[in-house]
Amino acid sequence: MPGPKGTYDVLPGSEFGATALVREALLAPARLAGYADAEAPVFEATELFARGVGESTDVVTKEMFTFSDRGDRSLTLRPEGTVGVLRAALDAGLHKGQLPAKLRYAGPMFRAERPQSGRYRQFQQVGVEAIGLDDPALDAEVVALGFQAFAGLGLTRVRLLLTSLGDASCRPAYREQLAAFLDGLELDEDTRRRATLNPLRVLDDKRPEVQAQLAGAPLMVDALCAPCQEHFSAVRSGLDALGVAYELAPRLVRGLDYYMRTTFEFVHDGLGAQSAVGGGGRYDGLAELIGGPQVPGIGWALGVERTVLALRAEGVEPPAEPGLSVFVVPLGAPAKAYAVGLVGSLRRAGIASDLAYGDRGLKGAMKAADRSGAAYAVVVGDRDLDAGQAQLKDLREHTQVSVPLDDLVSHLEGLL
Ligand code: HAM
Repeated sequence: MPGPKGTYDVLPGSEFGATALVREALLAPARLAGYADAEAPVFEATELFARGVGESTDVVTKEMFTFSDRGDRSLTLRPEGTVGVLRAALDAGLHKGQLPAKLRYAGPMFRAERPQSGRYRQFQQVGVEAIGLDDPALDAEVVALGFQAFAGLGLTRVRLLLTSLGDASCRPAYREQLAAFLDGLELDEDTRRRATLNPLRVLDDKRPEVQAQLAGAPLMVDALCAPCQEHFSAVRSGLDALGVAYELAPRLVRGLDYYMRTTFEFVHDGLGAQSAVGGGGRYDGLAELIGGPQVPGIGWALGVERTVLALRAEGVEPPAEPGLSVFVVPLGAPAKAYAVGLVGSLRRAGIASDLAYGDRGLKGAMKAADRSGAAYAVVVGDRDLDAGQAQLKDLREHTQVSVPLDDLVSHLEGLL
């Protein structure tokens, strides 16, 4: 029986079987930069996302998994992590402590999108949020950490798209300018409605007939106020200092409404339609939108499944668990009892080991040893026990030696 539409199961050998280490690797650069682990609930009050993510977004209007709890409160499975992490940080008063508050997180997000390759209804993100300062050097750090996250996994075809979306002092005028421009175009009803809610979103329309009309559209980067211009140029200098290459993308529009100033996306060209492997930006107005004080912040989230697909597209092996080193094969009941104790000792010595359960014969147990991926098999029969010996097989070299039982653990420690 398959799981719900748009979901997948993580199992050995499944498409996304190795995601735990990928998540860890993606967050490793942030750990080196002082980002601490954070976790917010998987569900929050619906209103939090409606206000924070924005009423004009597809995420809020079409994609939320919303339900009522037994007290008739409307709750929603988080479609993204920023709003919840910021709520948690404000709730704990982190914005009154040492700034910036640097947080990193990983976990499942939920969006009722049309499933396709690289797009799921339950998907995993890792993310960072740096809360409390609007220092452009911090923007450069955050963007660079995203860039390094992919580079650290061995990906070489991730491109960084960068722009500035202005702030509360310059964006309203630009918005009007864009709205006036859009008024003069031939747009369908639906697109007109989107233009009224948020004209910037129309710039993201992928249809060629719309794109053709947008060729001469005014751009936010040409309408930035002086402080925003200054901020953007400082971010760019910071990225240059950090050796991070970027492409200016003045038409970049993100799917969430809270962005201000620095805004960016990481794209991979080997993924087809779902090319965004990550994205983020500054959200200086978000804390107020969700009922908090004026607290700036910047962060990103990276898609874990799309990162795995990108690794596959580039032919790069994802990080893997080291696997088993030793597989113990007991033959007979006394040997079985001994083997149970032996794997206990091996594991206490830090040696990954397993044993042939199920009392199979030698042939079946040796097949299990081969399939286990272990480098060595220890075969003990009742007669070996009497002699105080075990047979140690090197499963790769196909050689075998007798080793005294008392020396087995130290002998294997020496080999591994
Ligand atoms: P986002 O661009 O909506 O940003 O999502 C970030 C990444 O999550 C995307 O680039 C993509 O890789 C992955 N993703 C999104 N939706 C899906 C899906 N349905 N299936 C698979 N992967 C998906 C955010 O969520 C912001 N919270 C980022 C941020 C943090 N901004 C500031 N701080």
